[in-house]
Formats: sequence, structure tokens, C-alpha cells
Amino acid sequence: MTIGVLTSGGDAPGMNAAIRAVVRAGLTHGWQVLGVLRGYAGLMNGEMREMTSAGVSEIIQRGGTILYTARSEEMLSVGGQARAASMCREKGLDALVVIGGDGSFRGAATLAERGINVIGIPGTIDLDIACTDYSIGFDTAVNTAMEAIDKIRDTSSSHERCSIVEVMGRSAGYIALCCGIATGAEDILLPERYDYNEKAVIERVMRNRRAGKKHHLIINAEGVGHSEELAQHIEEATGVETRATILGYLQRGGSPTCRDRMLATMMGVEAVRLLAAGEKNRVIALKNGGIVNYDIREALAMKKDISEDMLAVLPLLKR
Ligand code: F6P
Repeated sequence: MTIGVLTSGGDAPGMNAAIRAVVRAGLTHGWQVLGVLRGYAGLMNGEMREMTSAGVSEIIQRGGTILYTARSEEMLSVGGQARAASMCREKGLDALVVIGGDGSFRGAATLAERGINVIGIPGTIDLDIACTDYSIGFDTAVNTAMEAIDKIRDTSSSHERCSIVEVMGRSAGYIALCCGIATGAEDILLPERYDYNEKAVIERVMRNRRAGKKHHLIINAEGVGHSEELAQHIEEATGVETRATILGYLQRGGSPTCRDRMLATMMGVEAVRLLAAGEKNRVIALKNGGIVNYDIREALAMKKDISEDMLAVLPLLKR
């Protein structure tokens, strides 16, 4: 049996640990494992290299992905999808393991429709894949962001300023919500909930000032954006010096946490177990603490909203 493994979409810490697990478990079965470079873009061009056990040593602790990654526009077209599927056939792939987010799984589903067996492993810092409670990279990203926010808070308190810290998440607020709770932020703006009512944000800054708070920390999600403008508006309206910091790509890098390495390893091994058992077109997920799997179409049809349980604690922490 020959299997391929690729990483696709935004990289996430722990992807290397997942690649290592797929390669080592695959080799243990006596299979050939091909690493596909640069996601679907590389797949279409047949950019593959044979993976060895030694080739994945010393990567479990490294951020990024040794296979490189890309967002392939071409994979959105029928022509690109057909090219990718025929390359899988040309290279003799019996299955393809795709490590990435929803967009990557949608690409994989088009390959499944063309008869290629695909297994998805959730890998994105955004935690926005509906079928799973966890995606590889989230824990590292929120810990990286949390440490950075703690530092910003120190200087913000010293200067008695208001700080807006923008974290990643174009359409999902999980990074913002978790970092906001973990840093004790005064305000958390989420793409799923924020109504762009700046007056309310400004009122909260003033209320805190009147109550004697020396700083005011606002965690803003990338999907809400406008951090610089909001800082300017708060400063103009309240007289409180306000600074915006956009954390950006530093959240996607760095050595994965234990949780990310562990789950990446468990999911990588599970991908190979499913293939060995003859399973087809599955997405691996974490549900209620256990590793499960879903049909890829079923997984893609699921919907996810921000956690009501997490939101519910916020009003109780205001005083
Ligand atoms: O999907 C992860 C993510 O980091 C998002 O939070 C962010 O919106 C996006 O990727 C940025 O993508 P790119 O690397 O293409 O700029």
C-alpha cells in the first residue's frame, strides 16, 4: 500500500508531530509513505518525496510543517480537482492523509468524489472545524498569544493605558475568547457576536476608569478588525491613552505544546489505523475527550458556533 500525506491551509504547531505519526505508523505496516509538498498545489504538480523514519526524526518539537503548506486557488476549480485526483492515481496513491482545516477538507472531499480515499486530520489554530472539539495548533497558539498579552498588560498598567490586542481568527473567535478569559480581559470582541457598537465599548472603558481600574484590556479578533481605529476612537472619547497591538503570525509559530504534540500523534496514528481497517473518506475528531471519526461529507455539513458555556462566564467576572 502507498499513502500520501500533505499539510494544507494555514500552518499550525503540531502538524509536524502528525506527519511523523502518519509516517512512522504507516512504515510499521510495511507501507510506502509519500510526503506531498506544498499542499494541493504541490499535489497537482506531483511534488512528492518518499518519507523515511529518519526523515521525521527531530521534528516532533518543531513548529511549522516540514512538508510546507499552501492555499491553492486552483483546488477550488473543477479542473484543479481533476488534476489533483489524476496525480494521485499516477503516483499510485491508495490513500491521501490531509492535515488542515475545513477548506482543506473540502478539497479532500472533491478527491473522494473522484475515487481517491482521503482521511482528514484537523489542523488549524482557529479551532473552527465543526466536527471536532479540538484542532492541532490551537493550544500552542493560545498559549503563545496569552504570554504576549500578559506582557502587553504589564506595560499597559504601568502607563495606565487602555490596550487593544488583536489576535488571529478571521471568522472564528475561539482564540480571542480563550485568550480573553485567560488574561482577565475587560472586553472581548468576537466576529460571531460583536455588533460594532463602539459607544458601548467606550462606555465600558469609562466605567472601569471611574471604578479606579488602572488599565483596560480589550482582546479583539482579526475577524472584527479595525483595532487601530477603535484605539483612536476610545482615546478621543475618553481621554485614556489607548494603544493597539496586532499579534499576527507569531501566533502560528513556535514549538508545539504537549497537548498539541499528543493529539497530533494520536490522530496521525488513528489515520493509519483507519486505513489499515479499510475505512474510507473519514475525518478524525476529538469528542468528549476521545478520538472518533466521521464521514467527510457528514463532517463538512456540521455547523459550529462559539461556546455558550465560555460566553456565560463573562458577565460574572465584571466586578
Ligand atoms: O487559519 C488560520 C489563520 O491563521 C487565520 O486565523 C487567519 O485569518 C489566516 O490563517 C491567515 O492566513 P494567511 O496565512 O493566508 O495570511
